[in-house]
Amino acid sequence: MQIIYHEQSRTFHLRNSVTSYIFRIIDPGYPVHLYYGKAIHDREDFDHLLEAAPRPMSVLIADDGSELSLEHLKLEYPVYGTGDMRPPALDIRASNGSRLLDLRYESHRITEGKPGIPGLPAVYCDDSSEAMTLQIRLKDAKTGLAVILNYTVTEYAPAMMRSAEIINEGTQEIVLEHAMSLSLDLPDRDYDMIMLTGAWARERSVKRNPLHEGAQSISSMRGFSSPHFNPFIALCRKNCTETEGEVTGLSFVYSGNFLAEAYCDTYDTVRLRMGIHPDTFKWHLAPQASFHTPEAVLAYSCTGLNGMSQIFHKLYAERLVRGYWRGRPRPVLLNNWEATYFDFDEAKLLGIAAEAKKLGIELFVMDDGWFTNRRNDRSGLGDWEYDPERFPYGLGHYTEAIRDMGMMAGIWIEPEMVSPGTKIFREHPDWVIHEEGRPMHPGRHEYVLNFADPDVVQYIFEKLDRLLSEGGFDYVKWDMNRSMSDVFAASLPHQDELMHRYILGVYSLYERLIRKYPKTLFESCASGGGRFDPGMLYYAPQCWTSDDTDAYERQKIQYGTSMVYPVSSMGSHVSAVPNHQLGRTVSLKTRAETAYFGTFGYEMDVSKMTEDEKEQTRRHIAFMKANRQLLQFGTFWRLKSPFESNETVWMTVSEDKTEAVVAYYRCLQQINRGFRRIRLAGLDPDRLYHVSELEIDVYGDELMHTGLILSDGSGGERVSGTDFLSRLYMLRAVS
Ligand code: GLA
Repeated sequence: MQIIYHEQSRTFHLRNSVTSYIFRIIDPGYPVHLYYGKAIHDREDFDHLLEAAPRPMSVLIADDGSELSLEHLKLEYPVYGTGDMRPPALDIRASNGSRLLDLRYESHRITEGKPGIPGLPAVYCDDSSEAMTLQIRLKDAKTGLAVILNYTVTEYAPAMMRSAEIINEGTQEIVLEHAMSLSLDLPDRDYDMIMLTGAWARERSVKRNPLHEGAQSISSMRGFSSPHFNPFIALCRKNCTETEGEVTGLSFVYSGNFLAEAYCDTYDTVRLRMGIHPDTFKWHLAPQASFHTPEAVLAYSCTGLNGMSQIFHKLYAERLVRGYWRGRPRPVLLNNWEATYFDFDEAKLLGIAAEAKKLGIELFVMDDGWFTNRRNDRSGLGDWEYDPERFPYGLGHYTEAIRDMGMMAGIWIEPEMVSPGTKIFREHPDWVIHEEGRPMHPGRHEYVLNFADPDVVQYIFEKLDRLLSEGGFDYVKWDMNRSMSDVFAASLPHQDELMHRYILGVYSLYERLIRKYPKTLFESCASGGGRFDPGMLYYAPQCWTSDDTDAYERQKIQYGTSMVYPVSSMGSHVSAVPNHQLGRTVSLKTRAETAYFGTFGYEMDVSKMTEDEKEQTRRHIAFMKANRQLLQFGTFWRLKSPFESNETVWMTVSEDKTEAVVAYYRCLQQINRGFRRIRLAGLDPDRLYHVSELEIDVYGDELMHTGLILSDGSGGERVSGTDFLSRLYMLRAVS
């Protein structure tokens, strides 16, 4: 990893073992992008990459014969008004109404390590030798607006982080209208764009479409990152597969409204932009004030989509997730939501817990319904006092009982929301996001607290602090169950700042709680996986992946989620059949073998299991405990996509390549079909592996090149059974 500066040509070359990122400053001070892709040799200048052909109708930088036009150059942080006609990274309104900006290079700094971003989640390093950071300072002479572009390159997981700081060094207020975290111009548009789309209970389906002229984008304006579009896009070459070809992934470390866009001009170039959604954002920058954009992460791979995902997995699991739970195998939990919904009290929970303990459960989580006035989802959110009817001896008594059984205790909260009829709603109607004199629009019968107001955050902090210290909880599931509407807060002078300030308030509450309770395991949730984003992972090491717990649907959801997020971050549970969302019945074995690839737990009343089911469950939990280091922290490979076929195959390989687990899932049984062979990945070619199920010893190169044969060749299937079948193959190196 290096950041090289060639003084004469004013060229920067940032590189690690995988990529080179090159740009230069051209006269009169514009940072112009030259290359991003596979690592290449360094040289004194890369000026041959400047595209300067004379074109009619272009606005030129100067009438000096150079023919350079900002419209045809690749730009690092484009603005409006100096000749570039594509969407800008930064757009402002000066006090005289002008949108014009002319940002020119002033200076730069190259340092070891990586600075944090105040108030925002960001990738970090353990040691400054892991990363290098380049900061380019640009300035607009007329307004006094300065911009610092931050580029961090790491070797640890070979990614690049970008963000910007915008400082008003003038004397008049400046309004930021767009402040993107990243803009990246690529020289051709021969790509497909991959995105993760969905909705409640069907989050993160993998979609792939060719780029076309004009803008194609995904976004959220719901107040959270959303299940509809995850803050991630990738551009891959047409021939890119899971294991081969070039791809650049772009992921946003932010949980609020976002925009990710690929804009193709009519000269076949593409501009990528990622940042806070400009339609629901403005920021009023007083003289001397500064604004920090969230961080965008770039991961380039020339070894297919798995290569890109593995960079994100390592970076996010080890340098975004923080604290006690980083790298620590996650406790096998039981959550009572699908077991009881709102119908429970202490005695009922303790009954399920006793049975859970016998099966090997380590953490017992009490979901929604433990607090006053909460018999259904129409009331109760916001006061956060336990319900004495359900807990006659108090919450401390309940958690003690769980502890006495030898388990950890967890609790559900939804701190950002409020139900009508609660004390907080009555006493502080002004704390609820809405505009007086207009009807309020409910979502799941609840309203949103104004987390942009520090008094609200303080109030909720005190409530939760009391709850966590008195109840002594080891785990918190932090839910968030609605999109934001009626976006107005009387406390704020500038309404366009509300959405961003709201999410900063959420982050500040998380930060205070994890500082005070560093060993508490937080799991984020938003009606399932509606806020599954890198911003959340900085605070909560795991996230409830989806409210859909059907195993077959989960294979798709987990497959899509793995495009960016590590297995250790995916909340995954075995639930009852017929499944509560779809009515489908899938074997207990397949349900467990799907949930193994995540944090693993149960979401059902285990006391109602048959003896045979309990026996199987004891074995499943024991298997998970014995293998969770490998399953949660090994290198994950997607081998066959449920979005493209009747089958799903993925595998996980230990870091030293001595162990691996291959999971094969088949949706519908088929008769008299051809052989199925799957090529494995990530093994040591020279080691001999014993393959369970087949009971054969095979070299790694054979498994990766000839593949694993899943049929026995006699017309029947080695992988026999009926619909929704699964099979695990354990690979252990024997030499
Ligand atoms: C959301 C969550 C569920 C559950 C319920 C409780 O829908 O995603 O897991 O916690 O809320 O109301």
